[in-house]
Amino acid sequence: PFKLILTRSGLEIQVESDQTALEAIEDAGVEIDMSCEMGVCGTCVTAVTCGIPDHRDTFLSAQEKAQNNQFTPCCSRALSDSLTLDL
Ligand code: FES
Repeated sequence: PFKLILTRSGLEIQVESDQTALEAIEDAGVEIDMSCEMGVCGTCVTAVTCGIPDHRDTFLSAQEKAQNNQFTPCCSRALSDSLTLDL
């Protein structure tokens, strides 16, 4: 499990091991665009302002992943205890 801090929404939510970050965000009532839910289309790409994502998509390039300033919440998780998102 890890925590998401949604700065624009003013919410802190927990992502349990059996759910995706996208599901946790939607459960919290925050709208987010998504399509494939498999890490291939890039529709859900969200800016990360703090924390280190565990990138599991095939959309972002290796260089983009290394910058740790965006991630795909439909499939990626967190290496840090929390991620701060521009949502
Ligand atoms: Fe397609 Fe996340 S919804 S990459």
